[in-house]
Amino acid sequence: MGQTVLVTGGSGYIGSHACVALLEAGHTVIVLDNLSNSSEIALQRVHQICARAPLFIHADIRDAAALAAVFEAHEVDAVMHFAGLKAVGESVTMPLSYYDNNVTGSLVLLQAMEAAGVNNIVFSSSATVYGDPASVPIGENSPLNPTSPYGWTKMMVERVLTDWQHADAGRSVALLRYFNPVGAHPSGLIGEDPRGFPNNLMPFISQVAVGERDKLHVFGDDYATLDGTGVRDYIHVLDLVDGHLKALDFVAAKPGLHTINLGTGQGVSVLQMVAAFEQASGRQIPYAVVARRPGDIAQCWADPARARHLLQWEAQRDLTQMCADSWRWQQGNPCGYR
Ligand code: NAD
Ligand code: WQD
Repeated sequence: MGQTVLVTGGSGYIGSHACVALLEAGHTVIVLDNLSNSSEIALQRVHQICARAPLFIHADIRDAAALAAVFEAHEVDAVMHFAGLKAVGESVTMPLSYYDNNVTGSLVLLQAMEAAGVNNIVFSSSATVYGDPASVPIGENSPLNPTSPYGWTKMMVERVLTDWQHADAGRSVALLRYFNPVGAHPSGLIGEDPRGFPNNLMPFISQVAVGERDKLHVFGDDYATLDGTGVRDYIHVLDLVDGHLKALDFVAAKPGLHTINLGTGQGVSVLQMVAAFEQASGRQIPYAVVARRPGDIAQCWADPARARHLLQWEAQRDLTQMCADSWRWQQGNPCGYR
């Protein structure tokens, strides 16, 4: 049965891919986004891919009146809550902005949901809540120890959602802890479009491959990993959004609090990623090893067993496909949506 889903942050990187998956699955989609880190063109591309468009509301999640109006005008069954700020370094220099957008924004959203009697929410959390893990793979019961204001906002919103769910057994919450989302829709029409200097590895590599930047800086090659460079669990954004669709059905079927890692369970080093991208693009990726990036951890990958067990979900797409799809998007849109 199709649901009506409010997607906050739906014109962003992951949100736009979620819109495609939701529309393709027959759901009705309402996007609410303030476009602070995205372009409305992403939603036009979603329309192009699906031959159906989400309804777009240009608003901020901290705007209680705008949210109340959405819930009044539409019978929303569930919320997918992607909206928020996500740059770790920026969160250190602008912590109030992060607490305001991510924590206050989530509170305002939940108050509006509660007033409208909307009980189901799927929340974009992050593996960053685990901080530097004592061991890998990381299960959901691993200690939480965020190391940045951004990470703290995710942990705080998890706490708020936990208490909100506990207050009423009819409510249903999925806290999805993403590992490292990469890749793009295979059409090449939507993808990750960072503003300014990319903080993350994959967009940086693809900008080097397309000639937008000279070379990659590899942040340290003296970690205790297979080749000395940092190891992460990269997950294709289409697998990630498939996990969201499973979670949407799961929260509807099983009211409760569900904390679930979304990762592949496989670690990939920076140099392995460079090699895979060179293979996929046929381009050389020049790089230079530089100092470690402050705050980085050596390695991090998920134990995805709970997602397999609860959601019958498992990542399907390999590193080759992640690189090929990122490359198609980057080549077709060298300046992103601009
Ligand atoms: P993104 O920046 O591309 O998307 C976030 C969207 O939210 C943007 O369209 C932005 O304009 C919108 N937004 C921000 N603040 C808002 C506000 N106050 N009101 C309304 N809209 C607002 O980021 P993304 O990579 O798509 O991430 C989506 C979510 O997933 C975020 O919550 C992020 O923290 C989380 N997450 C992302 C990653 C990652 O590596 N991309 C990893 C773990 C978790
Ligand atoms: C991956 C690896 C770097 C850039 C961050 C956030 C996390 C989550 C995902 C939202 C590391 C190395 C990177 C570069 C490099 N986001 N690297 N040169 O740090 O695992 O996670 O994004 O929740 O919260 O912290 O991802 O892509 O930045 O880095 O050598 O130019 O690539 O050192 O080993 P990270 P990343």
